[in-house]
Amino acid sequence: MTAMPGGSQEVAVQCRGLTKSFGAGEARVPALRGLDLDIGYGEMVMLVGPSGCGKTTLISIIAAVLDHDAGLCRVLGQDLKTLTAADKVLLRRKAVGFVFQAFNLIPTLTLADNVSVPLLLNGVGRTVARRRAAEILERLGLGTRAEALPSELSGGQQQRVAIARALVHSPRIVVCDEPTSALDARTGDTVLHLLREVALQENRALVIVTHDNRILKYADRIIEMSDGVITQSAAGQPAVADARSNLP
Ligand SMILES: Nc1ncnc2c1ncn2[C@@H]1O[C@H](COP(=O)(O)OP(=O)(O)O)[C@@H](O)[C@H]1O
Ligand SMILES: [Mg+2]
Repeated sequence: MTAMPGGSQEVAVQCRGLTKSFGAGEARVPALRGLDLDIGYGEMVMLVGPSGCGKTTLISIIAAVLDHDAGLCRVLGQDLKTLTAADKVLLRRKAVGFVFQAFNLIPTLTLADNVSVPLLLNGVGRTVARRRAAEILERLGLGTRAEALPSELSGGQQQRVAIARALVHSPRIVVCDEPTSALDARTGDTVLHLLREVALQENRALVIVTHDNRILKYADRIIEMSDGVITQSAAGQPAVADARSNLP
């Protein structure tokens, strides 16, 4: 894809020459080495590649959770380098949903309260927040467990709560780090249908890191990373893309 300086209105995410290293001196580990990527509005992208190639680093930068070293990263038209820490807090709160690999649920809060957090942070009242949390938990098959604590759930159930929390405030950018790793095939399909519904909305974009071959069929595009750069980008399967318009 060619560079589009200033053309960020056309894409949800634009990365150019993105670099990021961890550590310093002898211990310095380059994680991203000049990565270029565009993600269009309405696009659901899956990111694959060997462990350590920089996938989590990339989605963390896109989600404004981690600062990059050099290069450009524009998200929803905003150059992340120009944002203050407070701007980034606001961007994350309003516009980003992040499904962490380790779920990161708050152990002392019930499922409904965990899922309510992004809404409460955005000023939604507690009653409405809890109702919306209950609705999305229901959709993910956890309606009867809303008052349970995370420790009372299986890994797969916790993963679905993490997904519910990432989506409940209708964020425009959703990043997921292996969102189906703990799910059986049927539950994985439920989750992917919900994620797709989000991506289908015109002003949204989704990036899903995955090792799960079963879900690649849902992608608009499959992007392969290796050693801190993108090595391949291929369109997803048209048959599945067609089926998308038949979703309830
Ligand atoms: N917080 C960190 N401190 C030091 N090194 C890190 C840190 N996070 C990631 N790395 C290193 O950066 C590289 C890319 O990591 P990561 O983005 O987690 O890869 P992936 O998600 O593809 O497995 C790896 O070499 C990893 O060890
Ligand atoms: Mg990772």
